[in-house]
Amino acid sequence: MPQVENPQLGRSHDYPYEHREEERDWHWGMVINTNRCINCNTCSFACKSTWTSGKGEEYMWWMNVETEPYGGYPMGWDMRLLDDLGAGETIFEAAEDGERVRGYIADKEEWEYPALGDDQVHGEYPTGEVVESDLEEGKHHDIWQFYLPRLCNHCKNPACLAACPRQAIYKREEDGIVLLDQERCRGYRKCVKGCPYHKPMYNPETGVSEKPVGCYPRIEEGFVPRCVSSCIGKTRLHGNINRGPDAPSPGGDAPGGRSPINYLVHSDEKVALPLYPQFGTRPQVFYMPPYHVPPEFLTQMFTPNEEVKRNDWPGETYRESIEIVQERVRNPSHHVLGILQLFGATTELIETYEVSEERVRGWNRDGEKVADLPFEEELEVREGEQWTNQ
Ligand code: SF4
Ligand code: F3S
Repeated sequence: MPQVENPQLGRSHDYPYEHREEERDWHWGMVINTNRCINCNTCSFACKSTWTSGKGEEYMWWMNVETEPYGGYPMGWDMRLLDDLGAGETIFEAAEDGERVRGYIADKEEWEYPALGDDQVHGEYPTGEVVESDLEEGKHHDIWQFYLPRLCNHCKNPACLAACPRQAIYKREEDGIVLLDQERCRGYRKCVKGCPYHKPMYNPETGVSEKPVGCYPRIEEGFVPRCVSSCIGKTRLHGNINRGPDAPSPGGDAPGGRSPINYLVHSDEKVALPLYPQFGTRPQVFYMPPYHVPPEFLTQMFTPNEEVKRNDWPGETYRESIEIVQERVRNPSHHVLGILQLFGATTELIETYEVSEERVRGWNRDGEKVADLPFEEELEVREGEQWTNQ
């Protein structure tokens, strides 16, 4: 089997097809700040009403929000697969005989309760006592939960694509979006079984499967996906994850260089991490981790979680790396704070950006300025009578 590079793991591994993802100029990517998510599910409903409101699609939540550690759609999807993988094995290396990918098809019951575990905390409230925060330096809450928005990652090593014997799933040249051709699909459901994130779903009415489309018609028009533009918590930023420090200006007076999401994920100041990189699919949705949650839990969820640290993570161990990233998210630098202002600032795709002392600006793919924001909201105090509580 061919080998592919996997920078998220710092090594190469088996994958059924050869490819070189880094050579694309443009690749779909997203960063989600979990600390801002309030589980309102506006994203989930925006996605559902746009894409999966038809017959046979009733159970299809391409976008869903889970409460960690107990929520999951389908139930227990992550732990069930992690239990099947040997130490350090990707889902491609752990494939059973006759299969290309290790996975499982969730039972009907596992899809029945998308909100099970919502708002349930880890740890027990002491009865009769006031719960006080112990969130001092280096400490984390004993009682915790957080919200994890989940969607298709438009992976660079897509398991759905690898698994399909009909080659009905393909990755678009122009933006890396992974699509399923329903004309070619024969309903084999290997994609449903193979995607470790459980995002391709079978439609019993049509007899073929469907998978999330990355809101490609909006991307083509220069807009961000519906889950991003509708998010009232301004948790997300979408754009070109492949735009690195040497990329030229897109035009006009726009600066060249990195996209804002590339900075958050790939600069030395790494603050956003992939979800379960150990699966090996190179997911392209990245999460700014919650800073109140114990690092042990996040190490398992957002790092390769192996004994030996093999790539460019900041600490000596993966656990230490998580603590460093948590601290960077808790006390962001001026530059990261500037990029955070761009989250939810416009419905247009931000290709390049600039952070100055006072303002942050963003330009679209045509080099037009689409965001220009102050670091601090200007406050106007109206003259005249003042409110008092008298
Ligand atoms: Fe395919 Fe699943 Fe990756 Fe989406 S998240 S590209 S459906 S393997
Ligand atoms: Fe292939 Fe999935 Fe259809 S495996 S044939 S795309 S159901």
